[in-house]
Amino acid sequence: MEARTPMINADQTNLIPATDLPWSVMPAKRTHTCGDLRAVDSGADVVLHGWVHRRRDHGGLIFIDLRDRYGLTQVTFDPNRNPHGHSTAEGLRNEYVVCVQGTVAARPSGTTNPNLATGDIEVIATTVTLLNAAKTPPFYINDDASVDESLRMKFRYLDLRRTAMREAVVLRHRVIKRMRDVLDRQGFLEIETPILTASTPEGARDFLVPARLHPGEFYALPQAPQQFKQLLMVGGMDRYFQVARCFRDEDTRSDRQPEFTQLDLEMAFVDEEDVTGTIEALLIECIEAYSSKRIMSKPFPRISYADAMARYGCDRPDLRFGLELTNLTALLGTSGFSVFRGAVEAGGIIKGLVVPGCAGWSRREIDGLTELARTFGAKGLATAAWLPEGIRSAFRQHVGDEVMGRLCDGMGAHEGDLILIVADREATTNAVLHRVRDHLGAKLGLADPEVLALCWVVDFPLLEHDEDRGVWTFTHNPFCAPKDADIHMLDTNPGAASSKQYDIICNGFEIGGGSVRIHTRALQERIFHLMGYTPDQVQALFGTMLDAFEYGAPPHGGIALGLDRIIAILCGASTIRDAIAFPKNQVARDLLMGSPSQVTDNQLAELSVRVSLPISRT
Ligand code: AMO
Repeated sequence: MEARTPMINADQTNLIPATDLPWSVMPAKRTHTCGDLRAVDSGADVVLHGWVHRRRDHGGLIFIDLRDRYGLTQVTFDPNRNPHGHSTAEGLRNEYVVCVQGTVAARPSGTTNPNLATGDIEVIATTVTLLNAAKTPPFYINDDASVDESLRMKFRYLDLRRTAMREAVVLRHRVIKRMRDVLDRQGFLEIETPILTASTPEGARDFLVPARLHPGEFYALPQAPQQFKQLLMVGGMDRYFQVARCFRDEDTRSDRQPEFTQLDLEMAFVDEEDVTGTIEALLIECIEAYSSKRIMSKPFPRISYADAMARYGCDRPDLRFGLELTNLTALLGTSGFSVFRGAVEAGGIIKGLVVPGCAGWSRREIDGLTELARTFGAKGLATAAWLPEGIRSAFRQHVGDEVMGRLCDGMGAHEGDLILIVADREATTNAVLHRVRDHLGAKLGLADPEVLALCWVVDFPLLEHDEDRGVWTFTHNPFCAPKDADIHMLDTNPGAASSKQYDIICNGFEIGGGSVRIHTRALQERIFHLMGYTPDQVQALFGTMLDAFEYGAPPHGGIALGLDRIIAILCGASTIRDAIAFPKNQVARDLLMGSPSQVTDNQLAELSVRVSLPISRT
């Protein structure tokens, strides 16, 4: 491995910063990028501009790896052929910006670098001009060592020079460009919708913007262009898409940002298959064009919501590995083990999964897993290890050998396997086993990072009951249509009606969701009524859309893909922050520009806004 050049501050050198240079020495125009040159270019006179990525001083020769967005090119300074250039190169430091003029030469045999696109050549420098010096960066740009994320965010413009971020930004551009091209080919129109819009209850909390011209009134930033895209269908646009910025004031997570980007689309005169088919073809084309990862199965499998919850404990299953859940309520709910019996008597369920080959895990490993289950809400984790000498389990004596045997058979366990069981409220049991399953998938190396397991989750319930308010509420958004065959249930058993919603999942992440919509006033009003809205509230909040539905709204449906999540998965990043040029941190702060920030009393007064908290002004 090459030695790392020590980073030296600009003012420790005797070079003249470009700002102090007269115009007459402004550099020659660049002829090539740092990723362009190959052996066939040998002998060409070239001009390269870029950053000093690394400098190696071999006593005689000085080598500079010159970097730009396109790659690295080795520039060689020979004191015998070019003493002036060589002495200038002595003063160059990492991240200095330079212009190099020189001649392309094939590298001497034995010194080529097969890992570099330009590794067969070097540029023998004739002149070098310093365009700008650089302070010592707060972290190394020229290696992949992990750097504190806050520092990366504060100096994002430097972080963007590093390989991982540059590749993410380039990939993001390519994928979005390809999506635009595919949709354009299919007759979709890219249409912008407002960023300053009205607040509507669509799921998350709105970001509000005070309206100076209308004291006491507020715009809301869009959580998604949902109503606008439906209105575009009413407006006859037929096929709409937008690379849409969305804003949701919710807690930030590794896969959630307060502002994020969707590929949002809507189509008229379609059913579920038309939308999912369009998206499936689009994703396959983009992934196969720009990712070396393998799509696990095409067409993407479809799983019903009920099936996903039963087998994986969640509606966004990671299908790269098995470890499926088994419902053990019937078998263990009446057993002599009070933890199991108690959970079922309280209305809960019992589910478990088999971890193949892990019966020999130490007490510490099992305790670690139990602790993890507790962090997701479990009271505990019951375990049974099938060892060569028999089954070791704290609940074995309580349930008896016969039930134990049926348990192993029913779960498909074998000698050497470890069984994990959770007994709790249904939601808790599923949530805990889902997290434990994902944890084991990663820990046991079952979740192959080179595989993309894409699937559709369908047949969601339309509504869920809001126990606190005693009304029904939407599971996705209030505009999603019920399945035709289930409309009659809205009067009798609304909770049993399924919807025309479809979510697309990749490796355990929801990368998109959409639905066929309600397009008549009567049905939409019926849904709002079930949700407990009065006619006045409906008119005030959703009147525009309902009115529009009375002027010949076509049947329509659409979807939105979470672009940040898709790019993060394709890059192998563990957070969407690494797929966004300028993200917010875990507490929704922009460390680069310093937002959110306080504003002056004058600004507040102009907006007729008073802050109720005491503000410490610094
Ligand atoms: P939904 O709310 O499911 O649907 O959003 C669609 C997709 O957007 C991504 N996503 C996010 N990505 C990053 N940070 C967030 N805070 C965030 N929230 C959502 C997810 C999600 O699947 N208007 C509907 C779509 C429709 O019905 O057509 C909507 O916005 O990948």
